[in-house]
Parts: sequence; structure tokens; C-alpha cells
Amino acid sequence: MREKLQELCHEALQALDAAGSLEDLNETRIKYLGKKGALTQVLRGMGKLSAEERPRIGQAANEIRSAIEERLAARTDELKVAVQEQRLRREVIDVTLPGTPVQWGGKHPLTRVRENIQDIFLGLGYVIAEGPEVETDYYNFEALNLPQDHPARDMQDTFFVSGGNLLRTHTSPVQVRFMEKTAPELPVKIIVPGKVYRRDDDATHSPMFHQVEGLAIDRRITFSDLKGTLDLFAREMFSPDTRTRFRPSYFPFTEPSVEVDISCVMCRGKGCRVCSHTGWLEILGAGMVHPRVLEVSGYDSEEVTGFAFGMGVERIAMLKYGIDDMRLLFENDLRFLQQFR
Ligand code: PHE
Repeated sequence: MREKLQELCHEALQALDAAGSLEDLNETRIKYLGKKGALTQVLRGMGKLSAEERPRIGQAANEIRSAIEERLAARTDELKVAVQEQRLRREVIDVTLPGTPVQWGGKHPLTRVRENIQDIFLGLGYVIAEGPEVETDYYNFEALNLPQDHPARDMQDTFFVSGGNLLRTHTSPVQVRFMEKTAPELPVKIIVPGKVYRRDDDATHSPMFHQVEGLAIDRRITFSDLKGTLDLFAREMFSPDTRTRFRPSYFPFTEPSVEVDISCVMCRGKGCRVCSHTGWLEILGAGMVHPRVLEVSGYDSEEVTGFAFGMGVERIAMLKYGIDDMRLLFENDLRFLQQFR
């Protein structure tokens, strides 16, 4: 029995040494130490041994099992290292391969145009001011010379929230809010970018859109200053040969009031489909600040004058980029947005 065990041990160790892979090792382990393995079989046969032989053979069998297990562990480590080394030799890192492309985002066309507008006026010494989108009736209408039941309120029907407040229909209320804070300091030169809301919804109107308001107050500001400023704006925003046209209009908070057109960006004034064959495109409303607006804001209308204007950012963007449907600006279709990189 003892010899048989010795022989088994010798055989098992040799098999382990000869194993060329982790799979071979596992097979060898099963062959000798497994449930039906050779060593297990021998130990099962111990029942037939005499009482004095049994402990000695048992001890020998345990020693052999330990020896096999030790060698198995050592060979497993060796082979694992070998496998790893082989893999490292095979795996060559090619540093010239292109990397995973990074997805770049871009500025939304409305953001670009707004920043463009802001930059032009910042260059003229204006500062940026902002106001709330949920506005009181007082600032949105009343202080701007649009009393209750004034028919001009109909032009700007809007969304009302609780407490008599509303979503502002224009950025003009910020004129009053700002002047209230600065009066009687001079000059006031602000531009007010922001969201506004109206009950409109079609290819050229959105219930939410963006405006940039402008306000300049000082002594002896005249209509010529307004013309010069907007003329320069049009040339900077569109092209150096862009011309402007001022048409009489009406806003309760300016007197006189005008509607400002630019020469058509498509046909340069000759007349085409974009400008309905007029050669002109309307871009904004403007005028000299009404004395009442100056007074409610804390300025002396005998002392100071000023002009104001308000433009729609979507409209400017559509003209600048030739976009024919305003809704494209809000759908976030990447095929559209990626054209403005
Ligand atoms: N608030 C006007 C509008 O939204 C535009 C405007 C601003 C007109 C300032 C005159 C002066 O239609």
C-alpha cells in the first residue's frame, strides 16, 4: 500500500510538472485529488487495513495529498504568470491609432445672435441689465403709459399668473425698473436681453421669444442719436452696406415712435420674396422715451431726454441666417443646430 502511494505521488507530481496550461493542471487535480481520483480511491481502501497499519498509511496519504496540493499551487502561479506574459507580448499598443472622438457641443444660434447684439452695444458703452420674467401689471403696462383698458394692450395679450401678475410681454418694463434705481444719475445706457411671452404661435411667432431692449437717457439726447446708433448697429450686425429706414409708428411709451427697417439682407434692397418685393425688412421698434415714463421713473422730463428700442432676437437670427421657420430654433434638431458651428 505504501509503495502504491509513493508511486501515485511520483506520478502526480510529474503530471503537474508536465502540465502546459491551467486546464491541464485542473485535469491532473481531478485525476488524483478529485472525488473519484486515484488518491481518493486509495484512501477508500483503507478500511481493509489492520488497526496498526491504518494510522501510518493514513498519515502517509495525508502527506502525499499536501505535497500534491503544494505543487499544484506553485504550478498554478507559474502558469498564470506565463499566460500573462504571453498576453503582454502579443498586445502591442499602437499609439498612432485615432482616439475615441469627443462630441463637441456648440452655442445655440440664438445665443450667438444675442451675444453678437450685446457685444455691439457693450462696445458703445452700454451695460447689461436684467429684470423678472414674471412681471407686475404696473411695470409691464401701467408705468409704460398703457393704463387699464388702453386698446394698445390688445397688441400684447399674454399669460396671467395668480396675484394679478403676468409673464412680461416685452423687456420694456426693465427701462422703468432700472431708472427707478439710478435716478437722478446720468447717463443711463443699458441693454436688456431676456425672454418675453405673448399669445402668438405660428411660423414667425412663438409664445416665448427673446428681446433685447436698449435705453439711453442723458441731457440733450436727440432722435439723431437714435438714428446713428441703430444705423451703426445694422451695419455691424448684418453687413457694412446695410441701410436703415425709419417709419412713423406708435408705442405708448415713446413719442415719437418708429418702426425700423433694414435694407433686405437677401436682395440688398432690389426686392425679392424674403422682403415681399419691398426691399426692406422690419427689425425693431423704437422711439424717444415718453416724458411720462421718465417722470414715473424719477427723472425730470424737462431736464433729460432719451431713446429706447426693442428688437426680437429670433427675428434677427432668422434674417441673419436665412431661417424661414421660427420653430426650427426651438426643436433642438441636431441637423439644424450643427449648421451654426
Ligand atoms: N416694447 C416694444 C415691443 O415689444 C418695442 C419697443 C421698445 C418699442 C422700446 C419702442 C421702444 O413691441
